[in-house]
Amino acid sequence: MENLENLCLKVVELSKEVGAFLMSEKNNITTKDIETKGQHDYVTYVDKTAEKQIVKGLMEYLPEAGFITEEETISKQGETYNWIVDPLDGTTNFIHGMAPFAISIALKKDDKIILGVIYEPNLDEVFYAWQASKAFLNSKPIEVSKTSKLDNALLATGFPFVDYSKLEPYMQLFEWCMRNTRGVRRLGSAATDLAYVACGRMDGFYEYGLKPWDVAAGSLILQRAGGIVSDFSKGDNYLFGQEILAFNKSLHSPFAEVIADYFE
Ligand code: IPD
Ligand code: CA
Ligand code: CA
Repeated sequence: MENLENLCLKVVELSKEVGAFLMSEKNNITTKDIETKGQHDYVTYVDKTAEKQIVKGLMEYLPEAGFITEEETISKQGETYNWIVDPLDGTTNFIHGMAPFAISIALKKDDKIILGVIYEPNLDEVFYAWQASKAFLNSKPIEVSKTSKLDNALLATGFPFVDYSKLEPYMQLFEWCMRNTRGVRRLGSAATDLAYVACGRMDGFYEYGLKPWDVAAGSLILQRAGGIVSDFSKGDNYLFGQEILAFNKSLHSPFAEVIADYFE
């Protein structure tokens, strides 16, 4: 495989090309374009077309790699390398004509994410990192915030909209956050949430019910920016385990202690 930095920069360019496509379609969506995948879960031709464009580009860069993609436009398993792709993270925002939404692309080598790119085209911001690199936003290195008290922290989350099995502890934790932090934002794009924690705009992010393509790229970018990612129990099952705690270095443990009071 070629140098990881070069590969990452190619993926950055690809994400910008596909991001331009998302922006060009942004105002063309009508009700008839919206398909329902499940309760409150939507997809459009834009998600699927963007995914095909991404897959085509990635296949040229690394022919031996397989894919884990949200819209399943390709079925190919790689022995060592697999791309994990969300072509449009934030579809509900997108179909309502709102920012943010993002493209999220990660490369997994065996069990490890070794490259991550998140492109948010509304602000033309690309966040990226590869194994052992710094994390970058539009070519400039980024770091997580230095906020050390939850009372001063601005958090992000995603509200449950399909899986209500943990709604009760979720709401109790939410109340705790309202009373004990600077506030909680619901941006509507988990990839953007992670990117914003990575560059220090927000101090932490938590959500359950997420899929690997929501968190793969963002988890690496956040770690390379000095943050800590885990599942709700401080373990490392955040990629496939459907729960994520992503915080700056000082706040990860304190917030994990809080969450332990609400979630088993
Ligand atoms: C969704 C967004 C949202 C999160 C959902 C995801 P999608 O992704 O990341 O913020 O709360 O759980 O499914 O469906 O727009 O790609
Ligand atoms: Ca998503
Ligand atoms: Ca998506």
